[in-house]
Amino acid sequence: MLDKSIQPIAHDDTGIWFKLAALQNAADPLNLLLLMARNAPGCIPLQMGSQRVFVVTAPDYFKQVLATKSANYSKYLDGMKPIFGASMITLDGALWQQVRAVEQPAFHPDALATYVPHFLAAIHARLERWRGLDGGATLDIGPETWALACDMICRALFRRETPFNPALVYNAIDAYTDVTNHRALGKFSDADVKAGPGTQTLHGGEAIARACEAWNSLPALVLAAPPFQNHDDYLLRMIEVAAADPAIEAFDHARALDEIKQYIWAGTETTALVLGWALYICATKPEIAQLIRDETAAVFGDRDPTLADYQMLLRTRSVIAETMRAYPPIWSLARRAEADDVIGDQDIKAGDVVSLWLYVVQNDPRHWDNPERFDPDRFGTGAKAPAPYSYLPFGAGRRACIGTSMSQIEMALALALILRDFDLDYAGEAPAGVKLSVVLAPDNRLPMRMRPRA
Ligand code: HEM
Repeated sequence: MLDKSIQPIAHDDTGIWFKLAALQNAADPLNLLLLMARNAPGCIPLQMGSQRVFVVTAPDYFKQVLATKSANYSKYLDGMKPIFGASMITLDGALWQQVRAVEQPAFHPDALATYVPHFLAAIHARLERWRGLDGGATLDIGPETWALACDMICRALFRRETPFNPALVYNAIDAYTDVTNHRALGKFSDADVKAGPGTQTLHGGEAIARACEAWNSLPALVLAAPPFQNHDDYLLRMIEVAAADPAIEAFDHARALDEIKQYIWAGTETTALVLGWALYICATKPEIAQLIRDETAAVFGDRDPTLADYQMLLRTRSVIAETMRAYPPIWSLARRAEADDVIGDQDIKAGDVVSLWLYVVQNDPRHWDNPERFDPDRFGTGAKAPAPYSYLPFGAGRRACIGTSMSQIEMALALALILRDFDLDYAGEAPAGVKLSVVLAPDNRLPMRMRPRA
């Protein structure tokens, strides 16, 4: 059993994430990124206080940093330490390798096949909640897809239902990653985190400390919740067993708690954002929703989909792939140079930070025809593969996302079932804008009316 004491990690807002706030204040932040890249292509030097940062926007340089010279570029996530602690996503070297090896079996295709019933249970629970609402009720889709993605993670990887109030944790995370002003959270108790109604108010003061406190309370809530099963073959048990294994000395109980937090963030925030954007696209482009509905009717109709059905959902998957091109939740990756290097015509010194703007290459007309057009056919059967390193929603190289296949199954099943069972009306007054923080999120809310289909 794990030591359930939680080591609070001090908040650190010195990371470049928080210095990029100026981007977020721009009226059209995505266009600003594209303009910056167009005016100084390839590798742009910036001075952020005492930190030299190089913004990289060319596929060849992505390859250099993420693959050919990846040993020279260590992970740089310092502003996110309170979220991730010292978990796999932040580690480098031998310990990263050991932790990844411990957890990789949970993402093997055989393991993914066993997750489908858990994904379906989470999806049906969310759809039931929507069916219970007044037909005209408007929902903010962000917290809804967050709660759904979180429940899929908790059920499949931890073998528990979500043991906390997802609406409250969503707000805590949103407050933490909102780089403009570190918006504030009202005071709330542990009991609220566990079971509160999610009606907490946002207001000024103590925001970040409260957000971190809520976040840090999650591993203990997960561990205290009763598992569905006692077999040792699921991710949380693999983590617990490794934490108790003296052969992996540096992977102790505190690190195991960080792993739990890492999965609740990395496995939830990203999947939830893609699903939210995909639902927004389907609500505002009925022809895209129709494509998915026609495919769903042909592949699995009124029954539940299986993993074999997922393989056949080619149109649904191409809509998701195109959503990740247009709205990559992780719109940039950061690394720190360990030794001097040269990128393009720029001399990189040890200690410099390199920021890889995935969004820019994924929307660069040199690599994509009419990138401003939403076109799932780019990823359709027989379509030309994207140019190397021009499409990286899951990163690339040895640090690529461990959850790539898992999240694609989750998103396709959820999108297909939501559209099969609901009509969606976007209820925003204007088209959704974008907020660039650590992630690429809607600038305000995505209000949606969900009407059950007959
Ligand atoms: C649409 C969904 C997702 C997207 C777009 C996404 C994106 C990414 C990206 C870009 C990275 C690389 C970060 C870097 O190189 O600095 C990454 C890493 C990672 N992701 Fe995901 N992710 C998604 C879903 C998931 C899921 C479902 C899980 C777990 C269940 C997950 C767990 C992780 C972990 C643990 C890492 C760190 C891997 C390592 O450092 O070895 N992600 N993700």
